[in-house]
Amino acid sequence: MRLALTRRLPAPVMTIVARDFVAWFNDEDRTLSSDELVRAAADHRADVLLVMAMDRVDADVIARLPASVRVIATFSVGHEHIDLAAARARGIAVLSTPDVLSDAVADMAMLLLLAAARRAREGEALIYQRRWTGWSPTQLIGRDVTGGRLGILGMGRIGRAVARRAHHGFAMQIHYHNRNRLDAGLEDGATFHSGLETFLAASDFLVLAAPASAQTQAILNTRTIAALPDGAVIVNISRGGLIEDAALIDALRRGKLSAAGLDVFNNEPEIDPGYLTLPNVFLQPHQGSSTIETRVRMGEVLLDSIHRAASGQSVANRLV
Ligand code: DGY
Repeated sequence: MRLALTRRLPAPVMTIVARDFVAWFNDEDRTLSSDELVRAAADHRADVLLVMAMDRVDADVIARLPASVRVIATFSVGHEHIDLAAARARGIAVLSTPDVLSDAVADMAMLLLLAAARRAREGEALIYQRRWTGWSPTQLIGRDVTGGRLGILGMGRIGRAVARRAHHGFAMQIHYHNRNRLDAGLEDGATFHSGLETFLAASDFLVLAAPASAQTQAILNTRTIAALPDGAVIVNISRGGLIEDAALIDALRRGKLSAAGLDVFNNEPEIDPGYLTLPNVFLQPHQGSSTIETRVRMGEVLLDSIHRAASGQSVANRLV
């Protein structure tokens, strides 16, 4: 099979790509424009287009893809960058990488939660800027994570992996808001809120783990922030689009919210400069799944499922 790959993947995955496919990859290793994406598929007569979450595979791109393309595979669990209806209409299968990255992303959520609540960035600045004058009973007092109330927006695989860590590791009381209530086994003692308002009121710590969609666009905004307890801590491991940046920045500046830990942003990598002026944020450059074990598993799962989908077998990670 002929495969066009938009970015360089970790070396063990590239080895499989080279072994199992007639592959072209973008050795400039940058996000391609829509025209470049279409040209890459056409020039290399690709059966498979392997894309990243930053590649926009919208209806226009899908309409212009050459007839050779039978599979679009995305090296991500998020798939809001692909127009699934347009792919379905052209008979193109779409594959993603669910499950294998849930633990790594949930670990990142805990890193952000702890770092934000315990003011890690300000502490680090004291040391690196040589301003630390010694232990003090009032220095950089943060919030207790252990035993706190954690609200999880979106209780899919990643949300549940965060809940397990927070509940069993940190004795947190888990509250969640989701399209549907989970069955008791999956709920694992968490409290379901069908309404957003009661959910927010119970979230001293709030983790955004819902996928990007029209329903979740800017779900954290001036109105919903007002419904959170004063001093709440926000964590985002989903997509920047869930947050209205101006509202979050304003609430962090005013002290309505005490801190935020963010791994994802609107308009990456051009993040809102307001964040850079705040001491009470802990920021990471979209690193949720970035461990060697996880990235290799993502590659293995995706490449394996391409062969299986192309030969007509049923594939669990097939979106359409
Ligand atoms: C994902 O898998 O969706 C990650 O956010 C990487 O894009």
